[in-house]
Parts: sequence; C-alpha cells; structure tokens
Amino acid sequence: MAFISPEEINNIRSSVSIVDIISTYIPLNQRGKNYFGVCPFHEDHSPSMSVSSEKQMYKCFSCGAAGNVFTFIENYLNVSFGEAVSLVAEKAGISIKADFLPQKEVKNQKEYDLMALVLKIYQNNLNTEAGNKAIQYLNERKLEEDVRKDFDIGLALDDNILTKLLLKKDYSEKLLVDLGLLNNNDLKLHDVLKDRIVFPLHDLDGNVIGFTARCYLSDIKPKYLNTKETAIFKKGNILYNYHRAKDTIRLKKEVILVEGNMDAIRMYANGIKNVVALMGTSLTKEQIKALKKLRAKIVLMLDNDEAGEDATYRLGNILEKEAFEIQIVRLNGAKDPDEYILKYNAEAIIENIMHAGSFMDFKLNYLKKNKNLNSAVDLAEYIKTVIENLKSNPDEILKEVTLQKLSNDYNISYAVLKEQLKIDSKIKVKTEKNEEEKKKKTTYEKLANEILYFMMNDAEYIKLYQTRLGFFPTKKERMIASEILYYYNLYKTINLADFITYIATINLKKEIMDIIESVRIQELSDEAMIELLEKLKKKMEQEEIKCLKKELKNEFDPNKKMELAKKLVEIKKGSVKVESY
Ligand code: UTP
Ligand code: MN
Repeated sequence: MAFISPEEINNIRSSVSIVDIISTYIPLNQRGKNYFGVCPFHEDHSPSMSVSSEKQMYKCFSCGAAGNVFTFIENYLNVSFGEAVSLVAEKAGISIKADFLPQKEVKNQKEYDLMALVLKIYQNNLNTEAGNKAIQYLNERKLEEDVRKDFDIGLALDDNILTKLLLKKDYSEKLLVDLGLLNNNDLKLHDVLKDRIVFPLHDLDGNVIGFTARCYLSDIKPKYLNTKETAIFKKGNILYNYHRAKDTIRLKKEVILVEGNMDAIRMYANGIKNVVALMGTSLTKEQIKALKKLRAKIVLMLDNDEAGEDATYRLGNILEKEAFEIQIVRLNGAKDPDEYILKYNAEAIIENIMHAGSFMDFKLNYLKKNKNLNSAVDLAEYIKTVIENLKSNPDEILKEVTLQKLSNDYNISYAVLKEQLKIDSKIKVKTEKNEEEKKKKTTYEKLANEILYFMMNDAEYIKLYQTRLGFFPTKKERMIASEILYYYNLYKTINLADFITYIATINLKKEIMDIIESVRIQELSDEAMIELLEKLKKKMEQEEIKCLKKELKNEFDPNKKMELAKKLVEIKKGSVKVESY
C-alpha cells in the first residue's frame, strides 16, 4: 500500500490557505489579523469561530472545536482523515494515490467481502426459475426491476443452497456461522435465511454487514427475520438507507425518519431521497450520533397506528433533549409512508412533509389522549403533564406562547401556570449544574492541558517545559508529552497545524484533540507558560505533601516515620524533586 509521510501531508496542507478552504463552506469575515464565521459545529448564530491564516488553524471560542484544514473537512463533511487529505490535495492541484494512509487499511475487509459475495448469490437467486414467485410478489408490491437493483434486493432459497455454495468456496464453517449466515444448531450446517426476500443492511459507510429478510410465500412470524448481531453487525448502530441518503440529507439539511425499510425504499424510489429508516421504533445512542453528524432537521414520519403515535411522542422527546430541530408528520388514510405513496402519490406525501407540524403541537394533542378534558381531574393532569414537558424545552418564546395558549384555551390563570413552570425549572437547573460540575476538569488536568497545549505550539515552550518541569506525574499526560517530544526531536520544530496532521495516525489522537479543543488561551507568551509551570509544580508539591502526611499518620515504625518527616520538610523547603503523585 502506498504511504504518504506526515511531511508530504503537511506539504499539501501548506499549499492551500485554510481561510480559502473554510470560506467555501461557511462565510468568513476579516477582523484584524483573523477571520470569523458562524461555527458549524454547534447551534450558533454569532460568529464565534476564528480562522487564523498565520497559524493555519481554526478555533471556536464557544464550543471549543479546533484544528487544521484537515480536521475541519473531516468534521464538516464527516469523512475520514484520509479522505480529507485527498480532498484538500485535489483543491491544491496535487495528485496523490487514493489509498495512501495506513489507517485506511479497512478492518474486517474479509468479512465485508464475504457479505458482498453472499449478497450477489441472493441477487442471482431472484433471476433463476426458483425466483419466479418472489419476482411476482415484488412486482405486486410495485418493487420493479430498477428498484430491486437500486436496493440490491435478493432472495434466499430453501434447500440450504447457500451452505452448499459457500462450503465449496473454502470458507471456514466458523466464519460463516459467526457472521450469522449459517447456523449449526443440530450439529449440521443450515442456511439461516430461507424462502425470504432479502434486503442487505449496510453500515454507515455502506459496507454490507447483515440482512433483513421478509417472508413472501405465506404470512409467517416473524414477518422480517434479521441475521444475528455479529462483530460487524450491530442493529443499534445503523439506520437503513443512511449511506445512500447522507449526502442529500446534508445538502437539504433535512432528514425524514420512518419506521420501516419498505417506507424508506418507497420514498427514495419516488425521488424523496433524504430518508432513513429506524427498522422499528427504538433509537439508540449510536443512531443519535449518526443523525447528529448529518446536521439536519429531523422530520419524524412514523406509522399511522397507535404504536407509531406513541413512538412519535417517545422519540420526539429523546430527540428534543438532544437538541435536534424536529417536525412531525402524521399521515392520514394509509398505514405507513409506503402505502400512502402507493394509494395517493409522491406529491401527496411531499405536501404532508412541507406542512409538517411542530413537536409541541403534536404533544399538546397527544397528551389529551384518553382524557376527558371536561373532567377537572383529567384537565389538571393534562395541564401538569404539558408543563412537565415544557421544562426541558430550551425555547423560551415557545414556552411563553404555550402557557398563554393553555391559559386562554382552558381559562386558567396565566400566573399560576407560570409559577408552576418556574418551580419545576428550578429543580431542573440544579441537577443540570451538578452534571456540569462532574464534567469539569480538575485543577491539575487544566494546568497540565494548558502546558501541553503551549508545547504543541512552539519549540520554545518545549524547552521551558524541559528545564522547569521535565515530567508529568500522570500517565496520560506523560504519554502526550512524550509524543510532543518525539515529534520535536524528529523535526526539530513544532507548530500546531503540522502536529495535528502527525497525531492523525497515533493512538492518542482523541486525547490530544480534546486538549486542543478544551484549552481557551488566545495569546501565548513565555511569561504565561512559566506561570503555568510554576503553578503545576506547586500543585504537585501540595499533593505530595498531602500524601506524605497521610503516610506519616499511618506509619508506626519510628525510623520510617523519621524518614518521612525529613522528606516532608525538604519538600516544603523546595529541595526535593517530586516523584510520585
Ligand atoms: P412494519 O411491520 O411496519 O413493517 O415494521 P413494514 O415496513 O410495513 O413492512 P411491510 O410493508 O409489511 O413489508 C417496521 C420495521 O420493523 C422491523 C423491520 O425493520 C420493519 O421494516 N421489523 C418488523 C422486524 O425487524 N421484524 C418484524 O417481524 C417486523
Ligand atoms: Mn408497510
């Protein structure tokens, strides 16, 4: 595999201007030496991201996002480091090999290749004599040839055909069982999927990792059978159609979330391409992460039954807490988006999407369910639940308008409603604060991070560190410092933009990026660095004294006690180098 050195990558980096590149994605305005724009990495309306052409770095002073031109592209376009380098190289007019980075070596390639082969076998089955009934079923469901091709729809046959074929090809039984393709329940190998229409499932990058398969000869349970979870397939990590839809979603800044694979297929095939399916009604942390990367408004369009309605409420609340902008579509006249499009047409569903309602309006209606609002008890309960719901909403104006509306609709004093909301909100603010406090870095961590940050910026600060501190007492910091020193020894110079390229290939990337993003110092100077080093030294001494005092208290041997006391005095005088932490 071709390999490009960090030097060459930084050569690419320095042949473009970070200002030019970032300004092709977000508008930047010059103010003094630097350029400013609205940070794309958090909800923001004021220009808190600064881009420095001198340092070739960007930094958001609100959310902390920071890095060089490659990390910007990586995070903005949600691509790998390698892809970001290729993209920038292209803009710089430098040609490089597509497969140049060591980490581009795909893990699990063997497994992906096997899954792709199995998919081919399933697809081929459809076109054999044995596939006639399946074709008939698919045609009846209006999944014609072009759609079948676009979604790689296939067919699992009976008679253990897959088992026979794969064993002929010299795959190990273990691999085939581990990947959920075959099972050996009764000590004999069998196909896991049989007599089912097969749809491949892809990970977020588009690798085939599993299958979901629908019965078609008769109505059997389960209607859809999925291959089991494996090393490469975790159902909770994927969203159906994500890899096909992600670019359109980013462009449209809107993603339509539906329940079933069939809904996604039907919409996509009708030109509504910004759609992904949950494959049910649960939503995991990983799926939320994947949705966040799309930076798009979510339109929830779940099934038209009671379960779909309940799920809309449940998922809407989760997404709202995660600060997504959400809208709700409840379809009328058909069970789900698939049937809706078949019964009416694509324009009709687009009309629904364009008139999607707010989640708050949905909630105000939903919470009335099974309640008789003429009964005082029911009405009170309704009002309380609505207020309960309002407290987690960050939109102050929406809160205000909703209280007004409740007050008018049900003739309740506005002041009473407002008071109730306040009581609840106070409790909430308190717990949020606790959470914040937990996340806060300790004084030591903060000082150490700042020192490391200085060191990544300029060799002068590395020298100051070497003469005035020399080591960190904790493992993580020590390892990061040694990476910096290694880099410095190799290149005899250091700057942040280049160092970031270097760390793209090492284990501590996340920890180092965390430092770069969490440190908020704008002006670096020798004095500031010296002050940090002194503070950290002092802090380490205090810790050492604390430890020694504790040891002294627990020590009964008079000789050892004496030794400890002596050490303590020396540390207080500042003549002993602190060794432990
Ligand atoms: P639905 O029952 O709404 O399926 O389940 P659907 O999309 O309308 O399917 P068709 O139109 O009958 O073919 C929604 C999703 O829940 C998952 C599937 O991913 C399905 O797309 N599901 C459903 C299962 O995993 N197993 C099942 O037995 C049923
Ligand atoms: Mn359906």
